[in-house]
Amino acid sequence: MSDPVFTPRVFSGIQPSGGLTLGNYLGAIKRFVEMQDAGTHETVYCMVDLHAITAKLVPPAELVHNTRELCAGFLASGIDPEKSILINQSQVPEHAQLAWIFNCVARMGWMGRMTQWKDKSGKNAEASSLGLFAYPALMAADILIYHGTHVPVGEDQKQHLELTRDIAAKFNHDYGVEFFPITEPVIEGVATRVMNLQDGTKKMSKSDPSDKTRINMTDDADAIAKKIRKAKTDPDPLPGEIAGLDARPDARNLVNIYAALAEVSPQAVLDQHDGALFGHFKLALADLAVEKLAPISAEMARLMDDPAEIDRILTRGAERAREITVPILERTYDIVGMLRS
Ligand code: AMP
Ligand code: TRP
Repeated sequence: MSDPVFTPRVFSGIQPSGGLTLGNYLGAIKRFVEMQDAGTHETVYCMVDLHAITAKLVPPAELVHNTRELCAGFLASGIDPEKSILINQSQVPEHAQLAWIFNCVARMGWMGRMTQWKDKSGKNAEASSLGLFAYPALMAADILIYHGTHVPVGEDQKQHLELTRDIAAKFNHDYGVEFFPITEPVIEGVATRVMNLQDGTKKMSKSDPSDKTRINMTDDADAIAKKIRKAKTDPDPLPGEIAGLDARPDARNLVNIYAALAEVSPQAVLDQHDGALFGHFKLALADLAVEKLAPISAEMARLMDDPAEIDRILTRGAERAREITVPILERTYDIVGMLRS
């Protein structure tokens, strides 16, 4: 049998768990916009609200707020709901329906090996939700209910994407079909791992207790500049070559952030700032970050003033999405042997 040809289609998602960071922007959303604008793929971007309740149940009004705020973040960053399909996961029920099938395809052993499961369940796996354990099967369903071929994500999601490939391959093998594509992860660029501003060995994260460690997408110009000026660095000047950043994680992180925001290579940043002291470089980085990020936070605030418009965009997105997901779920049900009315 010849390999089926799948429409090149990008899918990616972010949890509406409150507070988008510079890591989410550079590692994910900015790249989503680039892939949308490249026009080489159809693009589907998703707020994964079903995933957002796996670690703990969230007060309902907070989840609604976070979902709208994430949508505002996507729109303000340049996701165009005409060019991309922009959706909230629970509004496209086929995600959860396919996830059930995948719960029956995936093996307990596969799930138990996921580092995110181990990290998040910690010492108390017994008290974790079943949803947290099954999280990667839902993630596989998110992608494969669109026959997604390419998934841009940050480094931390690599293992989940390998599992997505395993689920697709096992389904195809067990039913003797070539129905689901074997998805390619797209983990590229200098910002696939943006680090903590106070400790360059840790990932920048919205869950860190200290706000100084991250730049939030809702931070205003003053907050952005202040956090960059106070970022941890070392006393040495900037080197002329990338190798000079080895064993200098804080310095490397700021150079990478600069490069990602300016859309140049880290070496080009060093060429321009060779020999500069960090006091000076941080001022240049603060200016650049404010120039690029402050308009996004201002636009997010403007969009959040009109939640009805956000809801309309998501309703329309769900309608467009279902033109793809309903037929794929129906064909899946036929393959599995589920009677359909
Ligand atoms: P999360 O906020 O964990 O749902 O992540 C959403 C997306 O942002 C995923 O593609 C992550 O890989 C990416 N991401 C989150 N934090 C970072 C970071 N510090 N650096 C780069 N990418 C990140
Ligand atoms: N697990 C991803 C994260 O935490 C979010 C996610 C859910 C996702 N479904 C997805 C990412 C599908 C890419 C594709 O970042």
